[in-house]
Amino acid sequence: MSESPSKIKIAIIGAGIAGLTAAIALQDQPHIDVQIYERARQLRELGVANALSDDVGFRNRTGRSMIYRHYQTDEDVSSDVPHGPVEYKHQTARFFRPHLQRVLLDHIQQGRLHLGKAFESIAKDNSTDGVIIKFRDGSTAKADMILGADGIHSAVRRAFVPGSSAKWTGHVFFRTVVPRSHYQHIEGLPDEAVHYWAPDRTLFLSPLPRGLYAVVAAHQCDPNDPDQPYLQAEWDQNVNIASLRPLYKDWSPLTRRILDATPFIKVYPNTAAKELDSWILGHGRVTLAGDAAHAHGGAFAAGGSLAINDAWAFAQSVLHHLPAGGDWRVSLDDSGVTKVLALYERTRKAHTDRVQRTVQQRNQFLVDQIKTKQTDEELRQKMKSRGDLAWVHEHDVEAAFARAKLELDQPEEASVQPGFQQREQSRL
Ligand SMILES: Cc1cc2nc3c(=O)[nH]c(=O)nc-3n(C[C@H](O)[C@H](O)[C@H](O)COP(=O)(O)OP(=O)(O)OC[C@H]3O[C@@H](n4cnc5c(N)ncnc54)[C@H](O)[C@@H]3O)c2cc1C
Ligand SMILES: *[C@@H]1O[C@H](CO)[C@@H](O)[C@H](O)[C@H]1NC(C)=O
Ligand SMILES: *[C@@H]1O[C@H](CO)[C@@H](O)[C@H](O)[C@H]1NC(C)=O
Repeated sequence: MSESPSKIKIAIIGAGIAGLTAAIALQDQPHIDVQIYERARQLRELGVANALSDDVGFRNRTGRSMIYRHYQTDEDVSSDVPHGPVEYKHQTARFFRPHLQRVLLDHIQQGRLHLGKAFESIAKDNSTDGVIIKFRDGSTAKADMILGADGIHSAVRRAFVPGSSAKWTGHVFFRTVVPRSHYQHIEGLPDEAVHYWAPDRTLFLSPLPRGLYAVVAAHQCDPNDPDQPYLQAEWDQNVNIASLRPLYKDWSPLTRRILDATPFIKVYPNTAAKELDSWILGHGRVTLAGDAAHAHGGAFAAGGSLAINDAWAFAQSVLHHLPAGGDWRVSLDDSGVTKVLALYERTRKAHTDRVQRTVQQRNQFLVDQIKTKQTDEELRQKMKSRGDLAWVHEHDVEAAFARAKLELDQPEEASVQPGFQQREQSRL
């Protein structure tokens, strides 16, 4: 790439959902030079209009995004349906992550993605206004602004907030995605996303595009119990599915047939960290997106959408303050770049903080619950009185961005326009 000095250099660390989306949103800007640095050496099948198609995402035309079923009777006890008018393409869709990442990757311009670049540290560049990124292989790169999109165990986050490591919540996911043909013989195989609930465990089932089927069994332990069996469980390892089946022995025949037909399964101990005090880090030039910014672990299957909304908000914040044409509202010194990051943080952080706190409360509730035996009546009650999550699944990031702009650019006007605040409140 030709390196015109007048271009704004944006370095993205991590080529996951957040990093790729942010790059796609900025790469066509003639005044911006965006580069992605990814730790992985190869994209071993890491997988935008087509990212929303039925070929990549599964939606059932009934419009129910999730059905909650009783574990013994197969009764549909309740379900999630969109509240507001939601366009078909924006309805909750289930993706196989490699498919989604592949589609995003197909949109990345050649030469922008650098593999084998594991982030190590950042230093102030004394010859310019920017910073120098150091990678583990000893190489360096210069940037005016850095987006750390390096996932739940983000090295960028830990470099600036050392106490922010994600810790095990006691929740364990056993997950597999296999060809649907494994289950073709099973009568009554769900054709919509179904979440079975029992007092001590759950089972999620969903068709996926391209003839795949997802099975996720979840199990809650007390993370402080030294005797529980998953204390040493490692991420993404095969476990013997035969050891899992007995845990479902009092479940419905349909669910047991599905588990019997499941050929293998892998374990994913769920980890999470607390919300950060600030997303403006490292000389006011470094920020975070996706799981790196909000290490919630399992979060109502919303992690992917949160990452995409972060990426969109980050790109809009850059373009608001540093638009094409040179008519910039800020300069590229530390305080100018901080203004860009402040707009991004204002757009996103209150919302994702709320998601994180909600997840933490739920995690604590689940741990407390394993100590008390739940009755069937209590289980049914819990399934019906699930907190309404429309505020997560139907969050309007465009409205949040408009409000953040108004609050930061014209604080006086924002304070006499309660409309925004009220509109958002009424959706909660
Ligand atoms: C078992 C499980 C089930 C889930 N189910 C759902 C679901 O149903 N729906 C949903 O929306 N979300 C789900 N999620 C969450 C979702 O996968 C994440 O929220 C989402 O992938 C976050 O995207 P991201 O871009 O922030 O991070 P990631 O996708 O984790 O990408 C981070 C990237 O950074 C790279 N990287 C890491 N460290 C470095 C470094 N030091 N230097 C350079 N690069 C680095 C990684 O290799 C990776 O490519 C699930 C997660 C798990 C684990
Ligand atoms: C820039 O200067 C500071 C203070 O003198 C120094 O600590 C730092 O290492 C320098 N940065 C680089 C990249 O040399
Ligand atoms: C949607 O669900 C219904 C009822 O469960 C089912 O009959 C139908 O085949 C499903 N559609 C798709 C596209 O899977």
